Amino acid sequence: MSKIRAAITGVQGWVPDYVLTNQELENLVDTTSEWITTRTGIQERHILKGEGQGTSVIGINAVNGLLKKTNTSPEEIDLLICATVTGDMPFPDTANIIADAVGIKNAFCFDINAACSGFLYALTTGTKFVESGSHKKVIVVGADKMSSIIDYTDRTTCIIFGDGGGAVLLEPNEEYGIMDSLHHSDGVGQQYLFQKAGGSRYPPTIDTVINREHFVYQNGKPVFKAAVTGMSDVVTRIMERNNLTADDVSWLVPHQANRRIIETVSEMANFPMEKVMVNIHKYGNTTAGTIPICLWEWEPQLKKGDNLILTAFGGGFTWGAIYVKWAYDPAN
Ligand code: COA
Repeated sequence: MSKIRAAITGVQGWVPDYVLTNQELENLVDTTSEWITTRTGIQERHILKGEGQGTSVIGINAVNGLLKKTNTSPEEIDLLICATVTGDMPFPDTANIIADAVGIKNAFCFDINAACSGFLYALTTGTKFVESGSHKKVIVVGADKMSSIIDYTDRTTCIIFGDGGGAVLLEPNEEYGIMDSLHHSDGVGQQYLFQKAGGSRYPPTIDTVINREHFVYQNGKPVFKAAVTGMSDVVTRIMERNNLTADDVSWLVPHQANRRIIETVSEMANFPMEKVMVNIHKYGNTTAGTIPICLWEWEPQLKKGDNLILTAFGGGFTWGAIYVKWAYDPAN
Protein backbone atom coordinates (compact mmCIF):
# COMPACT_ATOMS: atom_id res chain seq x y z
CA MET A 1 0.00 0.00 0.00
CA SER A 2 1.43 3.38 -0.92
CA LYS A 3 2.03 6.02 1.71
CA ILE A 4 -0.65 8.65 2.28
CA ARG A 5 0.82 12.09 1.77
CA ALA A 6 -0.58 15.50 2.66
CA ALA A 7 -1.05 17.60 -0.47
CA ILE A 8 -1.61 21.33 -0.49
CA THR A 9 -4.85 21.61 -2.49
CA GLY A 10 -5.42 25.35 -2.15
CA VAL A 11 -3.83 28.50 -0.81
CA GLN A 12 -5.19 31.93 0.02
CA GLY A 13 -3.44 34.98 1.42
CA TRP A 14 -4.71 38.19 2.91
CA VAL A 15 -3.13 41.52 3.77
CA PRO A 16 -4.83 44.62 5.17
CA ASP A 17 -5.36 47.67 2.95
CA TYR A 18 -3.25 50.24 4.76
CA VAL A 19 0.23 50.58 3.25
CA LEU A 20 3.03 51.91 5.46
CA THR A 21 5.72 53.21 3.11
CA ASN A 22 9.39 53.86 3.78
CA GLN A 23 8.65 57.55 3.26
CA GLU A 24 6.12 57.49 6.12
CA LEU A 25 8.68 55.76 8.36
CA GLU A 26 11.13 58.58 7.57
CA ASN A 27 8.72 60.84 9.48
CA LEU A 28 8.54 58.49 12.49
CA VAL A 29 12.20 57.56 13.10
CA ASP A 30 15.68 58.66 12.09
CA THR A 31 16.01 56.67 8.88
CA THR A 32 15.90 57.04 5.12
CA SER A 33 14.02 55.10 2.51
CA GLU A 34 17.33 54.48 0.80
CA TRP A 35 18.85 52.90 3.96
CA ILE A 36 15.84 50.63 4.39
CA THR A 37 15.80 49.52 0.76
CA THR A 38 19.54 48.95 0.58
CA ARG A 39 19.83 47.07 3.90
CA THR A 40 16.59 45.07 3.76
CA GLY A 41 14.97 45.31 0.30
CA ILE A 42 11.73 46.53 1.89
CA GLN A 43 9.78 49.38 0.30
CA GLU A 44 6.42 49.08 2.03
CA ARG A 45 4.42 46.88 4.38
CA HIS A 46 0.70 46.49 5.15
CA ILE A 47 -0.73 47.42 8.55
CA LEU A 48 -3.97 46.28 10.15
CA LYS A 49 -5.59 49.39 11.62
CA GLY A 50 -8.62 49.77 13.83
CA GLU A 51 -9.74 49.11 17.38
CA GLY A 52 -10.19 45.45 18.29
CA GLN A 53 -8.65 44.12 15.07
CA GLY A 54 -6.43 41.15 15.95
CA THR A 55 -4.52 38.52 14.00
CA SER A 56 -7.75 36.51 13.69
CA VAL A 57 -8.97 39.11 11.17
CA ILE A 58 -6.13 38.08 8.87
CA GLY A 59 -6.82 34.37 9.45
CA ILE A 60 -10.58 34.72 8.99
CA ASN A 61 -10.19 36.51 5.66
CA ALA A 62 -7.63 33.98 4.43
CA VAL A 63 -9.65 30.93 5.54
CA ASN A 64 -12.94 32.27 4.13
CA GLY A 65 -11.21 32.83 0.78
CA LEU A 66 -9.61 29.38 0.91
CA LEU A 67 -12.90 27.58 1.65
CA LYS A 68 -14.59 29.43 -1.19
CA LYS A 69 -11.94 28.81 -3.83
CA THR A 70 -11.60 25.11 -2.94
CA ASN A 71 -15.41 24.61 -2.73
CA THR A 72 -15.01 23.30 0.79
CA SER A 73 -17.71 23.60 3.41
CA PRO A 74 -16.50 24.61 6.89
CA GLU A 75 -18.13 21.49 8.39
CA GLU A 76 -15.71 19.29 6.40
CA ILE A 77 -12.61 20.69 8.13
CA ASP A 78 -11.38 18.39 10.89
CA LEU A 79 -8.28 20.28 12.09
CA LEU A 80 -7.19 23.93 11.99
CA ILE A 81 -3.74 25.02 13.14
CA CYS A 82 -2.74 28.66 13.34
CA ALA A 83 0.91 29.69 13.51
CA THR A 84 1.32 33.09 15.12
CA VAL A 85 3.25 35.04 17.76
CA THR A 86 0.60 37.74 17.91
CA GLY A 87 -2.52 35.82 18.89
CA ASP A 88 -5.61 37.91 19.59
CA MET A 89 -5.30 37.11 23.33
CA PRO A 90 -3.02 34.95 25.52
CA PHE A 91 -5.90 32.47 25.41
CA PRO A 92 -8.01 31.11 23.84
CA ASP A 93 -5.96 30.26 20.80
CA THR A 94 -6.51 32.33 17.70
CA ALA A 95 -7.17 29.10 15.78
CA ASN A 96 -10.39 28.72 17.83
CA ILE A 97 -11.42 32.30 17.13
CA ILE A 98 -10.87 31.85 13.39
CA ALA A 99 -12.77 28.55 13.34
CA ASP A 100 -15.71 30.03 15.21
CA ALA A 101 -15.92 33.01 12.86
CA VAL A 102 -15.89 30.94 9.66
CA GLY A 103 -18.25 28.20 10.88
CA ILE A 104 -15.74 25.38 11.39
CA LYS A 105 -17.55 23.22 13.97
CA ASN A 106 -16.14 19.72 13.54
CA ALA A 107 -12.46 20.40 14.03
CA PHE A 108 -10.01 20.66 16.85
CA CYS A 109 -7.96 23.83 16.70
CA PHE A 110 -4.77 25.07 18.24
CA ASP A 111 -1.96 27.60 17.80
CA ILE A 112 1.73 27.04 17.24
CA ASN A 113 4.30 29.61 18.28
CA ALA A 114 7.58 29.24 16.44
CA ALA A 115 7.98 32.88 15.36
CA CYS A 116 9.02 33.23 11.72
CA SER A 117 9.26 29.44 11.32
CA GLY A 118 5.71 29.02 12.64
CA PHE A 119 4.06 28.27 9.33
CA LEU A 120 6.56 25.51 8.52
CA TYR A 121 6.24 23.97 11.99
CA ALA A 122 2.43 24.05 11.62
CA LEU A 123 2.59 22.63 8.09
CA THR A 124 4.65 19.68 9.27
CA THR A 125 2.30 19.15 12.22
CA GLY A 126 -0.81 19.23 10.01
CA THR A 127 0.90 16.89 7.55
CA LYS A 128 1.37 14.23 10.23
CA PHE A 129 -2.38 14.17 10.97
CA VAL A 130 -3.16 13.64 7.28
CA GLU A 131 -0.41 11.05 6.81
CA SER A 132 -1.67 9.06 9.80
CA GLY A 133 -5.07 8.77 8.14
CA SER A 134 -6.84 10.30 11.12
CA HIS A 135 -7.67 13.66 9.45
CA LYS A 136 -8.81 14.37 5.90
CA LYS A 137 -9.14 18.14 5.56
CA VAL A 138 -6.69 20.21 7.53
CA ILE A 139 -6.22 23.98 7.36
CA VAL A 140 -2.88 25.51 8.27
CA VAL A 141 -2.81 29.27 8.82
CA GLY A 142 0.25 31.48 9.20
CA ALA A 143 -0.65 35.01 10.28
CA ASP A 144 0.75 37.85 12.32
CA LYS A 145 -0.20 41.38 13.24
CA MET A 146 3.38 42.40 13.97
CA SER A 147 2.38 46.07 14.23
CA SER A 148 0.80 45.19 17.60
CA ILE A 149 4.24 44.41 19.12
CA ILE A 150 6.45 46.82 17.19
CA ASP A 151 7.93 49.93 18.76
CA TYR A 152 7.51 52.69 16.18
CA THR A 153 10.27 54.67 17.90
CA ASP A 154 12.84 51.88 17.34
CA ARG A 155 14.33 52.28 13.88
CA THR A 156 16.07 48.92 13.99
CA THR A 157 12.81 46.94 14.09
CA CYS A 158 9.94 49.14 12.89
CA ILE A 159 11.26 49.24 9.35
CA ILE A 160 11.21 45.45 9.00
CA PHE A 161 7.82 44.10 10.03
CA GLY A 162 4.34 44.16 8.50
CA ASP A 163 0.94 42.49 8.99
CA GLY A 164 -0.56 39.69 6.90
CA GLY A 165 -0.83 35.98 6.39
CA GLY A 166 -2.35 33.10 4.54
CA ALA A 167 -3.81 29.63 4.77
CA VAL A 168 -3.45 26.32 2.95
CA LEU A 169 -5.73 23.30 2.74
CA LEU A 170 -4.12 19.88 3.20
CA GLU A 171 -5.78 16.70 1.86
CA PRO A 172 -4.64 13.09 1.41
CA ASN A 173 -2.83 12.23 -1.82
CA GLU A 174 -0.73 9.25 -2.87
CA GLU A 175 1.60 11.02 -5.26
CA TYR A 176 1.94 14.72 -4.47
CA GLY A 177 2.30 16.79 -1.34
CA ILE A 178 4.69 17.28 1.55
CA MET A 179 7.52 14.88 0.76
CA ASP A 180 9.95 15.65 3.58
CA SER A 181 10.59 18.11 6.37
CA LEU A 182 13.55 19.05 8.53
CA HIS A 183 13.25 21.24 11.63
CA HIS A 184 15.50 22.59 14.36
CA SER A 185 15.33 24.73 17.49
CA ASP A 186 18.14 26.25 19.55
CA GLY A 187 17.37 28.21 22.71
CA VAL A 188 20.65 30.08 22.43
CA GLY A 189 18.72 32.41 20.15
CA GLN A 190 16.33 33.61 22.85
CA GLN A 191 18.70 36.44 23.81
CA TYR A 192 18.78 37.96 20.31
CA LEU A 193 15.10 38.16 19.39
CA PHE A 194 12.26 38.31 21.90
CA GLN A 195 9.39 40.19 23.47
CA LYS A 196 10.35 40.48 27.13
CA ALA A 197 7.08 41.20 28.91
CA GLY A 198 3.49 40.02 28.74
CA GLY A 199 4.17 36.37 29.51
CA SER A 200 4.31 34.62 32.88
CA ARG A 201 7.90 35.68 33.64
CA TYR A 202 7.18 39.40 33.36
CA PRO A 203 3.41 39.91 33.42
CA PRO A 204 2.21 43.34 32.35
CA THR A 205 2.77 46.12 34.88
CA ILE A 206 2.94 49.87 34.57
CA ASP A 207 6.74 49.54 34.59
CA THR A 208 6.85 46.98 31.77
CA VAL A 209 4.76 49.36 29.70
CA ILE A 210 6.85 52.42 30.57
CA ASN A 211 10.04 50.48 29.81
CA ARG A 212 8.64 49.48 26.39
CA GLU A 213 9.07 45.78 27.18
CA HIS A 214 5.98 44.64 25.29
CA PHE A 215 7.71 45.26 21.99
CA VAL A 216 10.02 43.14 19.83
CA TYR A 217 13.67 43.42 20.78
CA GLN A 218 16.17 42.31 18.16
CA ASN A 219 19.94 42.25 17.93
CA GLY A 220 20.00 42.14 14.14
CA LYS A 221 23.52 41.00 13.33
CA PRO A 222 23.59 37.62 15.15
CA VAL A 223 20.07 36.93 13.88
CA PHE A 224 21.17 37.71 10.34
CA LYS A 225 24.17 35.37 10.58
CA ALA A 226 22.24 32.52 12.18
CA ALA A 227 19.44 32.90 9.61
CA VAL A 228 21.84 32.59 6.69
CA THR A 229 23.69 29.62 8.20
CA GLY A 230 20.56 27.82 9.40
CA MET A 231 18.50 28.16 6.23
CA SER A 232 21.29 27.34 3.80
CA ASP A 233 22.16 24.25 5.87
CA VAL A 234 18.61 22.83 5.95
CA VAL A 235 17.97 23.65 2.29
CA THR A 236 21.16 21.87 1.25
CA ARG A 237 20.49 18.86 3.49
CA ILE A 238 16.85 18.35 2.53
CA MET A 239 17.80 18.49 -1.16
CA GLU A 240 20.68 16.07 -0.70
CA ARG A 241 18.64 13.49 1.16
CA ASN A 242 15.95 13.63 -1.55
CA ASN A 243 18.53 13.47 -4.38
CA LEU A 244 17.56 16.90 -5.69
CA THR A 245 19.78 19.49 -7.31
CA ALA A 246 18.72 23.08 -7.89
CA ASP A 247 17.86 22.06 -11.48
CA ASP A 248 15.18 19.68 -10.16
CA VAL A 249 13.56 22.36 -8.02
CA SER A 250 11.17 24.88 -9.61
CA TRP A 251 11.03 27.31 -6.68
CA LEU A 252 12.86 28.14 -3.49
CA VAL A 253 10.34 29.72 -1.10
CA PRO A 254 12.28 31.46 1.68
CA HIS A 255 10.93 33.30 4.68
CA GLN A 256 11.00 37.01 3.85
CA ALA A 257 13.11 38.65 6.58
CA ASN A 258 15.72 40.56 4.62
CA ARG A 259 16.47 40.54 0.90
CA ARG A 260 20.18 40.17 1.64
CA ILE A 261 19.51 37.03 3.70
CA ILE A 262 17.44 35.58 0.84
CA GLU A 263 20.14 36.35 -1.72
CA THR A 264 22.90 34.82 0.39
CA VAL A 265 20.91 31.64 1.12
CA SER A 266 20.05 31.29 -2.58
CA GLU A 267 23.66 31.69 -3.55
CA MET A 268 24.87 29.17 -0.97
CA ALA A 269 22.26 26.64 -2.16
CA ASN A 270 23.05 27.37 -5.85
CA PHE A 271 19.63 28.78 -6.74
CA PRO A 272 19.43 31.46 -9.42
CA MET A 273 17.30 34.35 -8.15
CA GLU A 274 14.78 33.78 -11.02
CA LYS A 275 13.71 30.63 -9.12
CA VAL A 276 13.39 32.31 -5.74
CA MET A 277 10.10 33.78 -4.52
CA VAL A 278 10.74 37.32 -3.26
CA ASN A 279 8.01 39.79 -2.33
CA ILE A 280 9.62 41.38 0.73
CA HIS A 281 9.60 44.79 -1.01
CA LYS A 282 5.77 44.83 -0.79
CA TYR A 283 5.06 43.25 2.61
CA GLY A 284 8.20 43.35 4.77
CA ASN A 285 8.50 40.53 7.30
CA THR A 286 5.04 39.25 8.26
CA THR A 287 6.58 36.54 10.51
CA ALA A 288 4.39 33.39 10.18
CA GLY A 289 2.66 34.99 7.20
CA THR A 290 5.48 35.28 4.66
CA ILE A 291 5.52 31.77 3.17
CA PRO A 292 1.75 31.35 2.63
CA ILE A 293 1.65 34.88 1.14
CA CYS A 294 4.41 33.83 -1.29
CA LEU A 295 2.60 30.60 -2.26
CA TRP A 296 -0.62 32.57 -2.79
CA GLU A 297 1.06 35.17 -4.99
CA TRP A 298 2.88 32.58 -7.09
CA GLU A 299 -0.04 30.09 -7.22
CA PRO A 300 -0.96 31.04 -10.84
CA GLN A 301 2.56 30.01 -11.93
CA LEU A 302 2.78 26.72 -10.02
CA LYS A 303 2.22 23.48 -11.92
CA LYS A 304 1.35 19.97 -10.82
CA GLY A 305 4.56 18.10 -10.07
CA ASP A 306 6.70 21.23 -9.44
CA ASN A 307 9.25 20.68 -6.69
CA LEU A 308 9.32 23.46 -4.10
CA ILE A 309 11.69 23.92 -1.16
CA LEU A 310 10.27 26.07 1.62
CA THR A 311 12.61 27.40 4.29
CA ALA A 312 12.33 29.69 7.31
CA PHE A 313 14.28 30.97 10.28
CA GLY A 314 12.95 32.80 13.32
CA GLY A 315 13.04 33.71 16.98
CA GLY A 316 13.87 30.95 19.41
CA PHE A 317 15.90 30.19 17.35
CA THR A 318 13.69 28.01 15.19
CA TRP A 319 14.32 26.98 11.61
CA GLY A 320 13.59 24.38 8.99
CA ALA A 321 12.88 23.35 5.43
CA ILE A 322 10.06 21.45 3.74
CA TYR A 323 10.12 19.71 0.36
CA VAL A 324 6.76 19.98 -1.43
CA LYS A 325 5.65 18.35 -4.68
CA TRP A 326 2.94 20.76 -5.85
CA ALA A 327 -0.37 18.97 -6.38
CA TYR A 328 -2.36 21.01 -8.91
CA ASP A 329 -2.21 23.12 -12.03
CA PRO A 330 -3.28 26.76 -12.08
CA ALA A 331 -7.01 27.42 -12.50
CA ASN A 332 -7.92 28.80 -15.94
N1 COA B 1 17.94 53.62 9.51
C1 COA B 1 19.17 54.12 9.52
N2 COA B 1 20.19 53.58 10.20
C2 COA B 1 19.93 52.48 10.92
C3 COA B 1 18.65 51.88 10.96
C4 COA B 1 17.64 52.50 10.22
N3 COA B 1 16.39 52.03 10.18
N4 COA B 1 18.70 50.80 11.75
C5 COA B 1 19.96 50.69 12.19
N5 COA B 1 20.70 51.72 11.71
C6 COA B 1 22.10 52.01 11.93
C7 COA B 1 22.63 51.39 13.20
O1 COA B 1 22.35 52.21 14.29
C8 COA B 1 24.10 51.28 12.89
O2 COA B 1 24.67 52.52 13.12
P1 COA B 1 26.15 52.62 13.75
O3 COA B 1 27.05 51.93 12.76
O4 COA B 1 26.38 54.08 13.88
O5 COA B 1 26.09 51.90 15.07
C9 COA B 1 24.13 51.01 11.39
O6 COA B 1 22.86 51.42 10.88
C10 COA B 1 24.34 49.57 11.04
O7 COA B 1 23.46 48.80 11.85
P2 COA B 1 23.44 47.25 11.79
O8 COA B 1 22.51 46.73 12.82
O9 COA B 1 24.85 46.77 11.76
O10 COA B 1 22.79 47.06 10.33
P3 COA B 1 22.60 45.72 9.54
O11 COA B 1 23.23 45.85 8.24
O12 COA B 1 22.90 44.52 10.37
O13 COA B 1 21.02 45.75 9.28
C11 COA B 1 19.07 44.63 10.08
C12 COA B 1 20.13 45.69 10.36
C13 COA B 1 18.14 44.54 11.27
C14 COA B 1 18.30 45.05 8.84
C15 COA B 1 19.78 43.28 9.83
O14 COA B 1 20.69 43.02 10.86
C16 COA B 1 18.83 42.12 9.72
O15 COA B 1 18.08 42.02 8.77
N6 COA B 1 18.89 41.18 10.68
C17 COA B 1 18.09 39.99 10.66
C18 COA B 1 16.62 40.34 10.74
C19 COA B 1 15.76 39.13 10.79
O16 COA B 1 15.97 38.24 10.04
N7 COA B 1 14.80 39.19 11.68
C20 COA B 1 13.74 38.29 11.83
C21 COA B 1 14.13 36.93 12.12
S1 COA B 1 13.44 35.99 10.96
